[in-house]
Amino acid sequence: MPFGPRVRGTQLGKTSIMKAAYINQTGSPETILYGDLPDPKPRRTQCLVKVAAVAVNPIDTYIRSGLVPARLTFPFIVGCDLAGTVVEAGAGVTRFQVGDRVWASNQGLLGRQGTFAELAAVEQRWLYPTPANATDEQVAALSLVGITAHLGLVRDARLKTGEILFVNGGSGGVGSAVVQMAKILGARVITTAGSEEKVRICQELGADLTINYRVQDVGAAIRAFAPEGVNVWWETLREPDFLRTVPLLSMRGRMILMAGREASPAFPVGPFYVKGCSLHGFAMFNATPREQRAAAQDLNRWIAEGRLKARIDRVLPLSESAQAHRLQEESTIQKSGALAGKIVLKP
Ligand SMILES: NC(=O)c1ccc[n+]([C@@H]2O[C@H](COP(=O)([O-])OP(=O)(O)OC[C@H]3O[C@@H](n4cnc5c(N)ncnc54)[C@H](OP(=O)(O)O)[C@@H]3O)[C@@H](O)[C@H]2O)c1
Repeated sequence: MPFGPRVRGTQLGKTSIMKAAYINQTGSPETILYGDLPDPKPRRTQCLVKVAAVAVNPIDTYIRSGLVPARLTFPFIVGCDLAGTVVEAGAGVTRFQVGDRVWASNQGLLGRQGTFAELAAVEQRWLYPTPANATDEQVAALSLVGITAHLGLVRDARLKTGEILFVNGGSGGVGSAVVQMAKILGARVITTAGSEEKVRICQELGADLTINYRVQDVGAAIRAFAPEGVNVWWETLREPDFLRTVPLLSMRGRMILMAGREASPAFPVGPFYVKGCSLHGFAMFNATPREQRAAAQDLNRWIAEGRLKARIDRVLPLSESAQAHRLQEESTIQKSGALAGKIVLKP
């Protein structure tokens, strides 16, 4: 009985307890506590997953800090992504059984508890099988960013073979997934990076042109590579500059917006509509389970084929969740540039 209840938590009286990273109020990274909570009990259509790896996303830090108001039940376990093994399945679970390796995203959102714990109870509709040749660290690191990249490129921008795609920050969490996926979909890819080391990372991920945005003229480099303009512009920056980017779009160019809740930039209407361009905004957590599963199926195939790889910056113990949040915030919001990809944590 390798996954029996006694091996997954500590018996304290009649309640099994687990280690978790959680908050009792929103606030700074130090509001994250690491300690004992009762094991979650899976409902009818939920699996109880023994968590092997989780990954940090910027939205985890916005929810923790209160920047993004969310429905939270305290103690609230932080985190959206996980990978692990099913140790218990509710009576109504049809897709998975005990012993299956699985991954998930979109937890810790819209009233759901998060993933940064030894165990998580997850609705089967948010779970996907882990490819046999993939590690838990890899799939955890790819989950939210991979689904996000797929939704934007396939569902919204409808990227076609031979088109030119631009994405800011090709070594970042979302950027590294967008670069690889756009190449898989047959596009020519332009990206940016803030250091020579990150330029090399983007080249390894398959980018056709990587521009060091700290030393090069990004607009001039894009115009030289794409004289007819960029077909799909994926904006990862929280302060989009449409005055600069709209003139770089091709006829019928599509632009993806997915960051910058407070942003309110000027917008050059004329060049946008005359070229027949379109603007697509989305938040992955609002995508339906069916949409997310369609994305996950492609991700799994590409991971299994070795064509899609996680960009992991570092792996830390789950007990260091507060430090991981601080590092992610410094890198994404304060732009320290400390990270090149994802922070993965292991219980
Ligand atoms: N809407 C959604 O569904 C969704 C999903 C996921 C993420 N997001 C949001 O998307 C944003 C990015 O997330 P992430 O996980 O990819 O963050 P990340 O890993 O921190 O990546 C941010 C990237 O931005 C780049 N960057 C910073 N300043 C730049 C500049 N001036 N010019 C060009 N590139 C610059 C960084 O490049 P260097 O490191 O080379 O400086 C880095 O690659 C966050 O705001 C996040 O909340 C939204």
